[in-house]
Amino acid sequence: MKKFMVLSACLLSGVLSAESTVAEQAEQIFKERCTACHLDDGHGLKSMKVASIAGLPRWYVAQQLRHFRDGKRGAHVNDVEGKMMQSMTQTLDDKSVAFLGKHIQGMKPLKKRRTLKEGDKVVGEKVYKKDCASCHGENAEGVRSKLAPPLTVQIDWYLEGQLKKFNEGIRSHGEGSKNPTKDQTKDLLAYLSSIDNSKDEEK
Ligand code: HEC
Ligand code: HEC
Repeated sequence: MKKFMVLSACLLSGVLSAESTVAEQAEQIFKERCTACHLDDGHGLKSMKVASIAGLPRWYVAQQLRHFRDGKRGAHVNDVEGKMMQSMTQTLDDKSVAFLGKHIQGMKPLKKRRTLKEGDKVVGEKVYKKDCASCHGENAEGVRSKLAPPLTVQIDWYLEGQLKKFNEGIRSHGEGSKNPTKDQTKDLLAYLSSIDNSKDEEK
């Protein structure tokens, strides 16, 4: 019995220290390779069009990092920001990608995401429910089975930029998705940036 207790104590401490190394390693990689642009809090930098990524789910982060690395996102000649991320991901292996996903998911999302002035959020909500909710979720919380990310943690100018890229064919949107018109975009952004994301912190 004593032997068993010693053995399980060893196993348990082994598991615990393995887990803390994952968290530590993830934090280390993020510090070394990502904070220069995304900043310590992951809230991004408008002057370089760097996305706020804090609070994005791990599956989406991992998938996008692989897409950048493998040339599926950022390949278009006019995708200047996508190219920046392509070069940042070239030497990331799948394990680091998974670590980074976990780390970023655990970061506190940006609360104040409204910087643009135009748009009507009531109209935006109607357009959202009609054209977007089927993939991105009833409250824009994201739906993994559709590979559609939440739209409640990114800042409005970043989302606007991505919608422009979708419209211009610079980045590809989900299969079967609908790209909004310019006017709809303003209303949609007013709505999306008004959604309270404090629940996302508890993930
Ligand atoms: C040289 C600056 C720079 C560095 C360093 C950088 N990024 Fe980025 N990142 C960007 C830019 C700019 C974008 C916006 C890309 C776009 O507009 O398509 C971005 C976008 C992203 C996205 C996509 C967000 C979304 O909502 O789809 C993820 C995820 C991301 N970065 C993670 C990382 C991680 C993890 C690291 C560290 C390994 C990192 N980035 C390092 C500049 C950088
Ligand atoms: C058929 C499913 C589908 C529909 C409908 C859809 N989307 Fe998407 N959307 C996706 C998928 C999948 C992605 C991820 C694309 C990728 O992997 O690069 C995405 C990505 C996005 C992004 C980029 C997010 C980021 O962090 O970079 C924005 C913005 C977006 N969608 C907005 C919308 C809006 C607004 C609508 C409604 C007008 C809409 N989507 C309708 C599936 C959909």
